[in-house]
Amino acid sequence: MNGSRRPKVAFVTTLDTAILHDDFDHPFHVEAFAAAGIDLEPAAWEDPAIDWEAFDLVVVRSPWNYVDRLNEFRQWMRARRTLTTVHNSVDLIEWNLDKRYLAQLAAAGVSVVPTTYASDSEELRAALESVTSAQVIVKPSISAGSRLTGRFANGSAAAIELGERILAAGFTVMVQPFASSVDAVGEVGTVLIDGVISHSFRKGPLLADEGALRGGEYCEEVSAAELSDDERVLVIAVNEVVERIVRGQSWISPEAHLLYARYDIIRLDDGTPALLEAELFEPSLFLMVDPAAPARFVAAVESLLRKGGSYDEN
Ligand SMILES: Nc1ncnc2c1ncn2[C@@H]1O[C@H](COP(=O)(O)OP(=O)(O)O)[C@@H](O)[C@H]1O
Ligand SMILES: [Mg+2]
Repeated sequence: MNGSRRPKVAFVTTLDTAILHDDFDHPFHVEAFAAAGIDLEPAAWEDPAIDWEAFDLVVVRSPWNYVDRLNEFRQWMRARRTLTTVHNSVDLIEWNLDKRYLAQLAAAGVSVVPTTYASDSEELRAALESVTSAQVIVKPSISAGSRLTGRFANGSAAAIELGERILAAGFTVMVQPFASSVDAVGEVGTVLIDGVISHSFRKGPLLADEGALRGGEYCEEVSAAELSDDERVLVIAVNEVVERIVRGQSWISPEAHLLYARYDIIRLDDGTPALLEAELFEPSLFLMVDPAAPARFVAAVESLLRKGGSYDEN
């Protein structure tokens, strides 16, 4: 290490402890960082007293109340635009915040869940009319935790109602066919650390009919999963396109990879896998499904610290 100083890493989180209660990854991170001799400090993005420059690395992990305080969170990000220690970088986060990035990935050839975007009532009605599946999904393009997300019978008035609520809240509406495989097998998420696949997990279905959550509350059932061959091919293709976009914007240096990325895939009714979302800034990593994953994350952090000159292998 440089002199006697231990490297200091901030995990960007929130002051809202009720939200943090859901961060099942944190205990795994704490143990792995301690084992590596790195100081890990949770730091709330809303806390004005924090000196972000004092950290060797700032890892955005669980600022999960940002959806309620979007403007303030965006301000926080803008103020950190030149801080090269932030991972993934705030420009990348700004891009990833709004799921309209899916259209960009689709245009680049990635298989994405078919989506129509609506920014007014007329577009909303046209989008809902264009869906031919038995059920439709209506959700906002900026969201997390299935917020304002509903599943409806095709033609249901409640689908229009939810769409109008999303528009009234100032968001773009996404309309998708409901992929019926989600009821049986849920979705498969894959975490990449420093550009390499680390582990995959399966997340059970979240939505009941007509705009409700299964069991009436948001409840993620997660287990370890193996990717099938076609899912692996898709994950690698998605990551290549994402890294190409990110490098093209100079949000990472030409030879670097994203510190972390999570790609969630569902199977469409035609049997093919498609990307549901690419989570590049606040994903739960579900470290509990793979005992080796926390050390992989720390190794990637150490590599960034070395590049930043604040860490020497000893
Ligand atoms: N097109 C779809 N088909 C089937 N289920 C979907 C679809 N879109 C969303 N869902 C369900 O809703 C959940 C939340 O949607 P998602 O797009 O992952 O948004 P977020 O996780 O950002 O809230 C998913 O985990 C899945 O269970
Ligand atoms: Mg999701």
